[in-house]
Amino acid sequence: MTAQPQPDSASQPSFEILAAARRAIIAIDGPAGAGKSTVARHLAQFYGLLNLETGAMYRAFALKALTAGVGLDDVAGLLPLSAQTTIHLEPTGEGNLVYLDGTDVTARLREPEVTDGASRVSVHPQIRAWMVGLQQQLAASGGVVMEGRDIGTVVFPHADVKIFLDAAPEVRGLRRYDQLDPEAAAEVQPEEVVRELRARDERDRNRADSPLKPADDAVILDSTRLTLDQVVAQAEAIVAAKLSAPKFS
Ligand code: DC
Repeated sequence: MTAQPQPDSASQPSFEILAAARRAIIAIDGPAGAGKSTVARHLAQFYGLLNLETGAMYRAFALKALTAGVGLDDVAGLLPLSAQTTIHLEPTGEGNLVYLDGTDVTARLREPEVTDGASRVSVHPQIRAWMVGLQQQLAASGGVVMEGRDIGTVVFPHADVKIFLDAAPEVRGLRRYDQLDPEAAAEVQPEEVVRELRARDERDRNRADSPLKPADDAVILDSTRLTLDQVVAQAEAIVAAKLSAPKFS
């Protein structure tokens, strides 16, 4: 799967499915580089939903801790910091704009230190409980595609659609490398990106609280050998099948 060009939709969703989608919660979980953002963005556009990137919230809080000089493993310091933090997501067709304490910090959230920091602050149960509460409020009235690691297992265990998007680590790492701008790509080797992604995977999958894993009722979509169009088409088909079920009619 490659990030460009943007996928085509085979057809428009039916009126019934669009109506069902307005009340639905669609959970997209999976490891880094599996294609969650691309798929979530596409589904949001296709079905007229809000796309909420929960990883961006952990990234914003990591940025706050780094800026404030609070250790990422220092939960006693992180907790009071969280009480003085507001995080706001503004969905756009290109992804979420992220406001930290009222300031747009979107451009800083992909910095390597912030990426690593997000994975580290997200191991703390108290920080997760705060984030989960915020995420549940954001999507309370439905009509959202929410992407993350624990959406189908913890944030919305009763989500209407759960997709767990996965791919081989090497493929995910190389996709991430291909997405770097030329300046950043000149400074790292692809192997290094794969190594960092494996380290983050390891932490996300093995933390005690809400580890990354598919919900029992998630549909697993492995994108290792699929093109972007194929992944998107399969995700659309999964959503259409779930939203056509009798509970929505
Ligand atoms: O999706 P992302 O790469 O932006 O996520 C950054 C980090 O945030 C990821 O390494 C783990 C954490 N995260 C999480 O623990 N739970 C979520 N729902 C989303 C992200």
